[in-house]
Amino acid sequence: MEIHESSSMKLPGRPELFDFEGVSMIHYFTDNWEKVKNFQARPDDVLIATYPKAGTTWVSYILDLLYFGKDDPEQQTSQPIHMRVPFLESSFQMMPSGTELADNLTTSPRLIKTHLPVQLVPKSFWEQNSKIVYVARNAKDNAVSYFHFDRMNMAQPEPGDWNTFLQKFMEGKNVFGPWYNHVSGWWEKKQTYSNLLYLFYEDLVEDTGREVERLCSFLSLSTSVEERENITKGVQFDAMKQNKMTNYSTVPVMDFKISPFMRKGKVGDWKNHFTVAQNEQFDEVYKQKMKNTTVKFRTEI
Ligand code: A3P
Repeated sequence: MEIHESSSMKLPGRPELFDFEGVSMIHYFTDNWEKVKNFQARPDDVLIATYPKAGTTWVSYILDLLYFGKDDPEQQTSQPIHMRVPFLESSFQMMPSGTELADNLTTSPRLIKTHLPVQLVPKSFWEQNSKIVYVARNAKDNAVSYFHFDRMNMAQPEPGDWNTFLQKFMEGKNVFGPWYNHVSGWWEKKQTYSNLLYLFYEDLVEDTGREVERLCSFLSLSTSVEERENITKGVQFDAMKQNKMTNYSTVPVMDFKISPFMRKGKVGDWKNHFTVAQNEQFDEVYKQKMKNTTVKFRTEI
C-alpha cells in the first residue's frame, strides 16, 4: 500500500482487520494486550471512553483544561493532547505505548483515553471504581467521520469508497467493532456502575457550556463560572482546529491533504453523504441492531 508523500513516517502498509475476542481489531491496539489487560488503574483515574470519532479529543481537552488548565498552563502549549491523555491500548513504534505513557504520568488525576468496548476494559478500572466519561455520537455522523478518518490515517485499514465503508460499518467491520454494541454496551453498564457519565456529542455541540457544567458536577470540581466560560470558548471547534496541540497536526501518519483531523465538527453532516437508498437501508439495519437498548440518539439538532 502506498504511503502518501506528505506522510514522513513510513508504515509497512495499511493494517488488516482481524477478530480479537469477538471484536474487529488491528494489531496496533492488541500488540500490547498483556500490559493493557493487567493495567493498574487508580481510584482517582478518569477514563475517557468512546467509539472512535465520537468526540474523544474534544472531551479529553475539556477535562485537561478543567483539571490542569489553571495550575499548569505550560503543558497545554507544549504537549500534544495525545501525550497528556494517553491512549491506553495503543502500541505504535514511533512513540511509547499507551500503558507506558499512562504509567509515567505524574498528574493526579491521570486522564486516560480508550476506545475499547466495555467488555474489554481492564478489570482494575472497575475494581478501583475509577470515574469514567463515555461519549457517544449518532451512528450516521459517526460513520461519516470514521470514513474520512480511515481515508487520511495510514495506520487505519483502507476504507474503500463511501458505500463500501458504510456496508462494513453496518456489519461492524471497523476497528473496535460494531458501533451498535459499543454504545449500547456502555449504556447498559451505566445502569449498574454509578461512576460513569454518559455524554452525547450532539449535546456538546448544542450547548458546550451546559455539558462542561455537567462534567464539573460529575467530577466534583468547583470551577468558577468565569473559568468554565473561558474553557468553553477555548474548546470550540475553530479554536481547537487552530491549536497545534489539539488538531493532531503533529501526528505524521495522518495526511491532512486527504482530510483534516478537525474536519467539520457538525451534527447532520451525514446528509451530505448518505443517498436516499443508503439512508433507508441504514435505518432498517439500525432498527434491528438497536431493538434491545433504550439509548436514543439525535441525528440533527
Ligand atoms: P468530524 O469528522 O465530523 O468533523 P475523535 O476525537 O473521537 O476522533 O472525534 C473526532 C470528531 O470530533 C471529528 O468530527 C472532529 O471534527 C470532532 N471534533 C473535535 N473537536 C471538536 C469540537 N471542539 N467541536 C465539535 N466537533 C469536534
